Amino acid sequence: MSRLDIRCKVDLPVSVIMDNNGGKGITETKTKFSSLSLGGGFIDHKPSFGENRIVGLKYDLPRHGEFEILGEILRSENQGMAARFYNLNRDAKLKLWDFIKDNMSDDLACPYCGKENSQKLRSCDRCGWSLNFYSQNYIVEHEKESFLKRLALKSQDFSIEDIYKILNYIDVEVLKIGKNFDINEEFVGSSQSILDVFSMIRKVAPTDIPVLITGESGTGKELTAMAIHERSQRRNKPFVPINCAAIPENLLEGELFGHEKGSFTGAHANKIGKFEYADGGTIFLDEIGELSTGLQSKLLRFLEDKVVERIGSNGGKKVDVRLIAATNSDLKSGISKGTFRKDLFYRLDVFNVNLPPVRDRGEDKVILARYFLNKFSKEMNLSKSLSSEAVDAIRSYDWQGNVREIINKIRRAVVMSGDPVITPADLDLNITTFALESVKSLREVRHSIEKQKLLEAMKHCNSNISKVARVLGISRPSVYSLRKKYNI
Ligand SMILES: Nc1ncnc2c1ncn2[C@@H]1O[C@H](COP(=O)(O)OP(=O)(O)OP(=O)(O)O)[C@@H](O)[C@H]1O
Ligand SMILES: [Mg+2]
Repeated sequence: MSRLDIRCKVDLPVSVIMDNNGGKGITETKTKFSSLSLGGGFIDHKPSFGENRIVGLKYDLPRHGEFEILGEILRSENQGMAARFYNLNRDAKLKLWDFIKDNMSDDLACPYCGKENSQKLRSCDRCGWSLNFYSQNYIVEHEKESFLKRLALKSQDFSIEDIYKILNYIDVEVLKIGKNFDINEEFVGSSQSILDVFSMIRKVAPTDIPVLITGESGTGKELTAMAIHERSQRRNKPFVPINCAAIPENLLEGELFGHEKGSFTGAHANKIGKFEYADGGTIFLDEIGELSTGLQSKLLRFLEDKVVERIGSNGGKKVDVRLIAATNSDLKSGISKGTFRKDLFYRLDVFNVNLPPVRDRGEDKVILARYFLNKFSKEMNLSKSLSSEAVDAIRSYDWQGNVREIINKIRRAVVMSGDPVITPADLDLNITTFALESVKSLREVRHSIEKQKLLEAMKHCNSNISKVARVLGISRPSVYSLRKKYNI
């Protein structure tokens, strides 16, 4: 097996500082490092104390000056002791690497595994380590490589639960996936119907009750589920979405509840289910209407006792999971057809958030379009705006695919349009000529009705402007301007 760090023979003076008596008896022994690596070194001094002691190490690096770092004694032997360095800071590490590089043997063998003549290569063809020592990024690359190798060694002792915990830690704490999600920024809209949805999200989020989200495709059901999770006490725990329609029925049970090794052909190892994985957090069951009746019963049992039972296990495990479900189908009609359990429906439908289709959100269509236009333009470093015809087209288009369709059309327009101003043609909105004509004729109809009503009122009120204004429910200046407009 190869080493994890390059070690080279050196002759470097070092002072080992030890606290022998609770701060009263500090001793400093002058000795030397006989070998060094980025992780530690061998010191030519046999200590009078046992292993695992923390010591101070003071050394002078040629060209770089004096360093004082902490080390832990790992082993002591007749010839001396092996020390591991404690959290070397970046500067100390880079300078130490400079020194190690200068002292590396020049026999061209791989310093990790000893394979001869390897240093001519960028990476060793036996152990795989990068040998690109003179690259500016070498240390960063090396740390990444050695991190992965250390992890691979340690992971042999990990349980599958540990692995999920680690992956979740990486997502939430390191990559910040799902963190800093701001419902006010990500969830766009100011129509009354969407403001009502926001207010429901705020109300239900801090509770633990199940939520059923309904709405047409692309209206934001998953976004709503995430917003509820993000506003709940569970926000630092996993949010686990699962699409019940996307996984074949025979695999879905194992996905949701897990299985024990050997419980069926192909179950080669224990598998943790999504419910267990979501422990402490939220599970989002999308397209719940597609769940088989067998799994509906199992879900109902879970909702009653919060115990998950892996396939093939003798007992269950209690988990603390909040359930949010969504559907774009009519579960009540499923009940009458016998495909959806009534008792499960009432368990899920404790709190219902219904997302209105975009066509019922008034001016939100344009607000959403502008929001995504801004977002995509920024991403592509472009400056784009909508022409007034494009805005009209967005208003009159029948957005069957809802927000998702708006996103797709805007993204397409940003990519396709060579001009800073986006036109209806860039948006590829299939507004039929009939629809455009009817918009035009509506304006004409409105004008002719306006003119006719004004004529009738003038006649009825003997051209008394104040009376006409009262009858039509408009101001006197408006009557004057209408008379001017229609030449009356
Ligand atoms: N009000 C909104 N503001 C901003 N983005 C939104 C809004 N509603 C939905 N989206 C975005 O639109 C896309 C579709 O939303 P989402 O996946 O939540 O819809 P859905 O109802 O779950 O769709 P489906 O039924 O097809 O699964 C996502 O990218 C989502 O972030
Ligand atoms: Mg969805």
